Amino acid sequence: MNDSRVATVLAYHARSKHALDRYAAGPGTLDWEAQPNAFRDWTGAEQTALPREITVSDISWSALPATRAALPLNIANLGSFLRLCVGLTAWKEYGGSRWSLRANPSSGNLHPTETWLITANVTGLEAGLYHYQNLHHALERRAWTNTTQVTGVWLGFSSIHWREAWKYGERAFRYCQLDMGHALAAVSYAAALHGWKPRLLGLDSAAVAQCLGLDREHDFEGVEHEEPEVILVLVADHAGLPDNWQHWAGKPSLLDARPLYQWPVIEEVAAATRGAFPAVDASVPIPACLQIENDISATQVILKRRSAQAFDGRSVMPHSVFKQMLASLLPGGSPVWNIWTHTARVHPVLLVHRVEGIAPGLYVMPRSAVAKSSLQAAFRESFSWQPADSELPLFELVAARTGKTARTLSCHQDIATDCAVACMLVAEFAAPIVAAPAAYRHLHWEAGMLGHVITLEAEAVGWRGTGIGCFFDDADHEVLGLQDDRFQVIYHYAVGMALDDPRISTLPAYE
Ligand SMILES: Cc1cc2nc3c(=O)[nH]c(=O)nc-3n(C[C@H](O)[C@H](O)[C@H](O)COP(=O)(O)O)c2cc1C
Repeated sequence: MNDSRVATVLAYHARSKHALDRYAAGPGTLDWEAQPNAFRDWTGAEQTALPREITVSDISWSALPATRAALPLNIANLGSFLRLCVGLTAWKEYGGSRWSLRANPSSGNLHPTETWLITANVTGLEAGLYHYQNLHHALERRAWTNTTQVTGVWLGFSSIHWREAWKYGERAFRYCQLDMGHALAAVSYAAALHGWKPRLLGLDSAAVAQCLGLDREHDFEGVEHEEPEVILVLVADHAGLPDNWQHWAGKPSLLDARPLYQWPVIEEVAAATRGAFPAVDASVPIPACLQIENDISATQVILKRRSAQAFDGRSVMPHSVFKQMLASLLPGGSPVWNIWTHTARVHPVLLVHRVEGIAPGLYVMPRSAVAKSSLQAAFRESFSWQPADSELPLFELVAARTGKTARTLSCHQDIATDCAVACMLVAEFAAPIVAAPAAYRHLHWEAGMLGHVITLEAEAVGWRGTGIGCFFDDADHEVLGLQDDRFQVIYHYAVGMALDDPRISTLPAYE
């Protein structure tokens, strides 16, 4: 049983690779007018508008990791929290087109991730299961019960694969999972600001589907299905969560009336990777890392975060910024890792182009004590593994100018060479997937979380990041000397000094 699921996952991963001479299967033509709707409504569900005010705007970026008293569970604080993790942050306009951006980035700005809330005894909000409607910053009450003893808020996530598959074809499942990781990190930051300590629940996919009503197949007849991802407890006075819904309301809207293509392999890999998030009971070690004093408001960093569409190709990143960014990627180095308490399995390989005091070249920073020797055994023998920092586990592999290589590897995208640092996120791969095929999702979540930390750390000091989901997988592996699937690169990232496009105007998120 497990064997066939493992085989499905590994086969999916192999066939969804981009190669220098062949992209993974995707649509031959794109009808931009027929892009699936980025917002799903639950027609007939009662809507509650959420307050838009951010209740934590006085906290600075460097104060973010400090422990603070939990804010009361009320509709105002929930509204503030949701804006900071999955809410809209702006509308953009150019040449008659208008598009929105959110606190969490998404591959192609397609936003497959849907947010759910389960609430009980929250001041100002009836108990129930709600869908978060990002467009209006409102909750749609999908289900409720007349008997709830518990008090708490739980957050659920699902993915609508078609939103990504419409544009990216078979590789889209990976992007949905990376997006999920970005959303988890965004939740972690927003929760830290409100003094809440979210925890991922070890529920299997069927239980997540049941709690969120995603298994009510007749409700989804004729519309795009939602894949259960995970539920987090945000605040609760009770181990269990309410799921004995007695009343249901609403019908999900159709997102794409005329889907042109079908990518059945996505549903196959989704089925093969269903499973529980492994519950671990470990505390996150705090690394000896430096924390640059930074008075900028954390809220501002979160709401102003954008992906750079172009970098200037010349700015040199200060050494302190580089170090702070790397330190925050280590377990415990950022409040984000409070929700990710198991051993780190994704490790950054850095292509340093322009960093003060660091020779251009290829570097690696194993994020766990055990990873260094296994990476060393798997990587190219000729790599030097020279310690490159007195405090961080950073090693120089080879001194070289890697700008052109970075661009080629990242599907020829200029952002990978014009940035100051590009990065490949290398996952421990075959062993975790053989042990539990659901790990395929969790490795992508971890990579997405790393990307999100990079992006916000950069944003806080005036730099900017961009996720790069398009890369040539096995060309990466060749550069690193990886000859099997003990490790695989699953995400790229770029950080640099962004060039803004003055033709694009910015409008407020909600007005
Ligand atoms: C998983 C993932 C993959 C991405 N891949 C690319 C990429 O290959 N090239 C690129 O220019 N941007 C890429 N992006 C950036 C998105 O295009 C960007 O997040 C989206 O347009 C929304 O804009 P925002 O991040 O400013 O909110 C990626 C983002 C994510 C989360």
